Amino acid sequence: MINEKSIRIHALVHAILHFLEANRGRATGVDLVLEKLREMDFSLERIVDASPRDTHHARILADAIDDITAPDLSNIARCLRRARHDLIWREDNGQFYPPDADLGDGYRNCNLHSLLVGPNACGFEMEDFCLGLFMLGPRTLYRDHAHEAPELYLNLSPRSGWRLSSGSWQDYKAGSMIWNAQGETHATRAYDRPFLSVFVWLENIDSLCRIVPFPDWAEIEAGLCRNEL
Ligand SMILES: [Fe+2]
Repeated sequence: MINEKSIRIHALVHAILHFLEANRGRATGVDLVLEKLREMDFSLERIVDASPRDTHHARILADAIDDITAPDLSNIARCLRRARHDLIWREDNGQFYPPDADLGDGYRNCNLHSLLVGPNACGFEMEDFCLGLFMLGPRTLYRDHAHEAPELYLNLSPRSGWRLSSGSWQDYKAGSMIWNAQGETHATRAYDRPFLSVFVWLENIDSLCRIVPFPDWAEIEAGLCRNEL
């Protein structure tokens, strides 16, 4: 059923698709994502009619959306502001990991996502593919991990820290893209503001993630807490 809600979600999905299309070839993996997206039907008639679900991280989410100020992300920001209350917001309470995974309190206390495309998404139903929004609270380390799903991030926040393939930490700006090939280790850290991104899982979305232990987690988490990073 087409209604105001589905029009707003449709606009958000298309704002993201448009950004990816405009950045074809700019980062590894973007073309693979575009190839997958080409096979899918994102017409307004295909939008699912699911009830929205709000989040108790609403204040942090509002801050994260306020922070999307990069000119080339303005369309995504505008559409997200409009569709924010139409979406289904969910937390990962460890369901993407084995029960004993050492995710740390930072991630457990404040992570959030909304699936725009994928199984039980609030936009388009898809079986083995996900596209959505992902948020971490301020001063959070999302510890090093790996998964079978090849993954693309489009960073919406002005600054986020990434450790890719066990290399050193690097900061990325708004509009940057991160490609994690199948099984590659990666970690993310949010500084004094929340971290918000678009993420895509291309396939193998049902396989569990695994934590990859690093000796510096406690040091990084302490540094983030003290606002020293
Ligand atoms: Fe990941």
